[in-house]
Amino acid sequence: MTSFSELTEKKELTIVAVESSCDETACAVIRDGAVLSSVISTQIAIHKEYGGVVPEIASRNHVINIEPVVQEALDKAGIAVSDADAFAVTYGAGLLGALLVGVSYVKGLAFALDKPLLKVNHIRGHIAANYLSDPTLRPPYIGLIVSGGHTAVVQVNSYTSFTYLGGTMDDAVGEAFDKVARVLSLPYPGGPEIEKLAREGKNSVYIPVPKTGPYDFSFSGIKTSVINYVHSAEQRGEPIVKADVAASFQSAVTEMLVKAAVTAAKEYGLKDIALAGGVGANGALRAKLSESCAANGLQAHFPTRDMCTDNAAMIGMEAYLQLRYGDGSCLADDALDARASIPLGGK
Ligand code: KG4
Ligand code: ZN
Repeated sequence: MTSFSELTEKKELTIVAVESSCDETACAVIRDGAVLSSVISTQIAIHKEYGGVVPEIASRNHVINIEPVVQEALDKAGIAVSDADAFAVTYGAGLLGALLVGVSYVKGLAFALDKPLLKVNHIRGHIAANYLSDPTLRPPYIGLIVSGGHTAVVQVNSYTSFTYLGGTMDDAVGEAFDKVARVLSLPYPGGPEIEKLAREGKNSVYIPVPKTGPYDFSFSGIKTSVINYVHSAEQRGEPIVKADVAASFQSAVTEMLVKAAVTAAKEYGLKDIALAGGVGANGALRAKLSESCAANGLQAHFPTRDMCTDNAAMIGMEAYLQLRYGDGSCLADDALDARASIPLGGK
């Protein structure tokens, strides 16, 4: 099998990457950091019926989808599976059963073809999505991680290391969007629904924002105050304007997030802030970050909207960066296991 040094010295490095950590089965082919193909099969329509992701159903559908998704990605890239120099897979964080489908499948490919297996941390993948849309972005910069499972402000020191500055003390911001959407009887996933509804509303409902450290957040209290507002209006028989609640909630959380990232950039003397994760697709957050960066002489960066939510191109890109700039710790063997959580400690 190719050694790590042989792999890193290769001129044309083709990576086939797979992502199955939640409800998207995805495969991408990356050659030297450029995306040859990216296929995403989403199960949103299936889980919508239950108001959220049902882990067992997600795993079963990954099993059904993985083979055709990988084949489609290979076909679109115009390569055979044996043309891959290495295979990359998300091994955490995420739903264990869902992750295991991708990990087992990619392990099988790597060992059947005697090719290197690369393990990828999903959150690092979200950060790497920025390099796909903006090759001018270079570390160091501030990363604002806003996904369904994680919320954090990090200093991205290099392509392979970051320092955790602060994050949520309870719910993740995507989780808060999804829970507030439920209270407003909006379908899963709540983030895009809140964004759509908020466009028709005004920021007129008082949402108390908890006082935390400069880079720490608490979303649970915000969610509870929305629930309380809706319930007490219902009890008084007063109508609520859902669009105003959505606009006010969205404004409160995006304000908190942007403020923390801009404060971090100024404190650490960094000029760039990059968004990472599903909530990064939110237009209000993108606009607020851009405005605030412009007002403070900073530069905002975001992946394209489709690369903010889960995909395999970002996993392939992260694997590529690990190979080009890392220490070889991304190399895995047949003992690789899925991990439901990986601490956001950075390195
Ligand atoms: O990063 P992601 O795709 O999966 C995780 O790694 O968790 O994030 C999914 C989260 C969901 O909570 C979803 O509601 C939220 O991202 N999301 C959004 C938007 N699109 C997806 N939140 C706000 N506005 C959006 N447009
Ligand atoms: Zn994700």
